[in-house]
Amino acid sequence: MDPTGLLDGVLLTEEAISVRVGELAAQVGSDYLDRELVLVTVLKGGVFFLADLCRRLEMDARLEFMAISQYGPGSHGVVRITKDLDGPVEGLDVLVVEDIIDTGLTLNYLLGNLRVRNPASLAVCVLLDRDVRRIVDLPISYRGFRLPDRFVVGYGLDFRGTLRNLRFIAALKDEVLER
Ligand code: PRP
Repeated sequence: MDPTGLLDGVLLTEEAISVRVGELAAQVGSDYLDRELVLVTVLKGGVFFLADLCRRLEMDARLEFMAISQYGPGSHGVVRITKDLDGPVEGLDVLVVEDIIDTGLTLNYLLGNLRVRNPASLAVCVLLDRDVRRIVDLPISYRGFRLPDRFVVGYGLDFRGTLRNLRFIAALKDEVLER
């Protein structure tokens, strides 16, 4: 379960995540019935949640990926798009699928960027909401779990590029972060 010895307990088991993803997919499926849905995910962490969510959806959905890079620590949400959508989303229903929202700065930028492309609708589905760190208030239509103020890894979330592929979500030991 923890060959690295870096973890400080499982916060969300594989089963708990799977159950919640199924519930979110059911909600999304019923809200977007007979609509043309585009799921937009930000690389890299969001792809795990996206892959599971879209497979539980009982409707078709187009997938789009964006990649962004922060201009640096303290950039306050000023980001550069390094990979843009492959196609236009004008007149389509866009659902941004994110693994985690902390400050909200990334998503705030992203929503502003997508809004000017004139989608029919624009909403947010996030697996983990660490709202204690929020700086910008954002409308979240679908939320998996609220998180305490702990550094978490797994199911897409990394620690310096590692531990992203854990099937569960765990807290990292405090001393690891202090190293
Ligand atoms: C995470 C997450 C969001 C962002 C949220 O990505 O996927 O994009 O952080 O943080 P914020 O609310 O404070 O802006 P991360 O920067 O870890 O990139 P990664 O998915 O490539 O690991």
